Amino acid sequence: MITRITQNMRQFLGERPELKFLFFGGKGGVGKTVMAGATALWLARQGRRTLLASTNPVHSLSGLLNLNVFGKITPLPGADHAFAYEIDTRDTIEKSKREIRDKINWFLRFADLHIKAEEFVDAATLNPAFEESAMFENMLDLMFAGEFDVYVFDTAPTANARRLLGMSKVYSLWVDKMMKSREEATSLRQLLSFSKKKEEADPLMDYLVNFRERMGHARELLTDPAHTAFFFVTLPEALPIAVITRFLKWFLDFGIPVGGIVVNGLLPPPVPGHAPSEFIENRRAMQAEHLQTIWRIFNDQVRALVPLFEREIQGLPALNRLAETLFE
Ligand SMILES: Nc1ncnc2c1ncn2[C@@H]1O[C@H](COP(=O)(O)OP(=O)(O)O)[C@@H](O)[C@H]1O
Ligand SMILES: [Mg+2]
Repeated sequence: MITRITQNMRQFLGERPELKFLFFGGKGGVGKTVMAGATALWLARQGRRTLLASTNPVHSLSGLLNLNVFGKITPLPGADHAFAYEIDTRDTIEKSKREIRDKINWFLRFADLHIKAEEFVDAATLNPAFEESAMFENMLDLMFAGEFDVYVFDTAPTANARRLLGMSKVYSLWVDKMMKSREEATSLRQLLSFSKKKEEADPLMDYLVNFRERMGHARELLTDPAHTAFFFVTLPEALPIAVITRFLKWFLDFGIPVGGIVVNGLLPPPVPGHAPSEFIENRRAMQAEHLQTIWRIFNDQVRALVPLFEREIQGLPALNRLAETLFE
């Protein structure tokens, strides 16, 4: 069993200059946001125009940076080429609601149904998956716009990220099915209509075609190892390890490229001549044991071992310090 890093973050990213979309995932509280932030700062320092973006509804980036980056792409003071952006879900959700209302209204008119659209709009938008899908759409807009050399996404907690990505595959299947029945319905309508005049524009069909294209493009980008890498952050503790073990397997199944594992929160080694407290000794022993598991399961995918700092990581100086450790 190897118990040392065979390729660290610096080497991994150095060998992949075309990498454009980096994601950080893992259990809540393990350090995804700080690792994403440190990685973005490091990439920007290499001269690449970098966007640190959050798809997480919790306002964690603004807190991390001591800077309001909510709803607008904001340059980071004192860090050339680095920008941060927290997606404003409210706008996206309102926009999606409007679009859905328009489509439902169009459909009700098309089908000659005199029903209020509102009830259907609520059914479609009052569920948690709707907010997630709005976030996903927003993330895709950023990725497709391609205004930055590299994007570092501070991904929402594991289950959400998993659903987000799973959706792109499910969406595609769903849209294919929808399009097929739409085509059948349209030709039936044409057959039955007395006037043989051509069908008017069909916004639903247009939407579905467009949507399928977007999803196909998204899947292409997200499954391309030259451009995309997902990093998983864990602590040397049982639960976060279990979470990313599941995650890793799932990603393998979906063909999404994994960049590697960042192990965070390692206790510093004992100071010679100072006897550690029993508490520290126990925690060190626990971490050592879980590290064994980490090497056994993740092996050459471990990219960094990051120590627990004496205080939380907040503000650009602290983030730069973390970047130095992460990319030593
Ligand atoms: N290596 C570390 N040393 C000290 N504090 C850390 C370290 N990594 C993360 N933290 C702190 O732990 C908390 C959780 O980190 P965060 O990046 O927000 O986790 P996540 O995004 O996975 O929920 C934050 O307060 C952060 O400053
Ligand atoms: Mg976070």
